[in-house]
Amino acid sequence: MTEELEKLPTHIAIIMDGNGRWAQARGLPRSAGHRAGAEAVRTVVTECRGLGIRHLTLYAFSSENWNRPKSEISALFSLLLEFLRREVPLMEEKGIALKVLGDLEGLPLPQRTALRHAMGRTEAGREMTLNLALNYGGRAELVRAVRGFLRDNARPEDVTEESLAQRLYTAGQPDPDLLIRTSGEQRLSNYLLYQCAYSELYFTPVPWPDFGVDQLREALAVYAGRSRRFGKTQEQIDVR
Ligand code: FPP
Repeated sequence: MTEELEKLPTHIAIIMDGNGRWAQARGLPRSAGHRAGAEAVRTVVTECRGLGIRHLTLYAFSSENWNRPKSEISALFSLLLEFLRREVPLMEEKGIALKVLGDLEGLPLPQRTALRHAMGRTEAGREMTLNLALNYGGRAELVRAVRGFLRDNARPEDVTEESLAQRLYTAGQPDPDLLIRTSGEQRLSNYLLYQCAYSELYFTPVPWPDFGVDQLREALAVYAGRSRRFGKTQEQIDVR
C-alpha cells in the first residue's frame, strides 16, 4: 500500500460513460442513470479527496451532448443545479475548489449563475481542485487558445508548449496522470486532447453509476503498476 500511495496520480481525469445503458438495463429512463451517476460523482470526489488526489476532472457535458434529446439535456442541467446546491457548502468546508472547463457562456443562465457562485464560494479551497468539463470540447479549447494568441498579436516565438498550455482551461494545473473511461468504450471523445499527451489510459467495462470506491482503487492499483517513460527507455528511468 505504501508503494501504491507513492505512485498516486496527482491528477485524474474521468469520462463518466454508461449512465444511459445502466438505466436502460434496469428498465428505467436515462435520466435515472444520470441521477445514479451524480451519486457516483459524490462517492468518487469524496474518495479522491480522502486519498489526497489534488486534481480531479470530470466530463459532465461535452459540446457534442447538445445533440441529445431536449428532455435529457434539461434533466442533466437540473441535476447539475441540484448537485451544486447540495455539494457546494460541503466542498467549501472540505477545501475543494470548483472550476469549470468549457464555454460557460453557452450554458443556460441558471446553471451559469450557479456555477459562477460555486466557483467564487470555493475558490480558496486548497485541498483539491474539482474541474467539471461542461460544454467542453478539446478541439474547441485549442482553437480558443490559438485565437487568444492572435488577439494578443503574439509573435511565432511566443507560442510554445508552455504558453499554449497557459491558454487552456486547465492553465496552472498539471496534466492528468491517469485518464479513466467507464462502460467499455475505448476512445477519447474530444476530451483534454492536449493535456492527455502522456496520460495513462484505463478503461473499464463498469458503467459509471456502478463505479465506486473499489473500482477507483482498482484503477489506482493498475496505475501504480504502470511504467511511465515519457519517451525515455526503461534503463534511463531505472538509473534515476
Ligand atoms: C455519459 O453517459 C454521461 C453523461 C453524458 C453525463 C455525465 C453526467 C453525470 C454523471 C451526472 C451529472 C453530473 C454532475 C456533475 C452533477 P451516457 O448517457 O452517454 O451513457 P450511455 O453511453 O450508456 O448512453
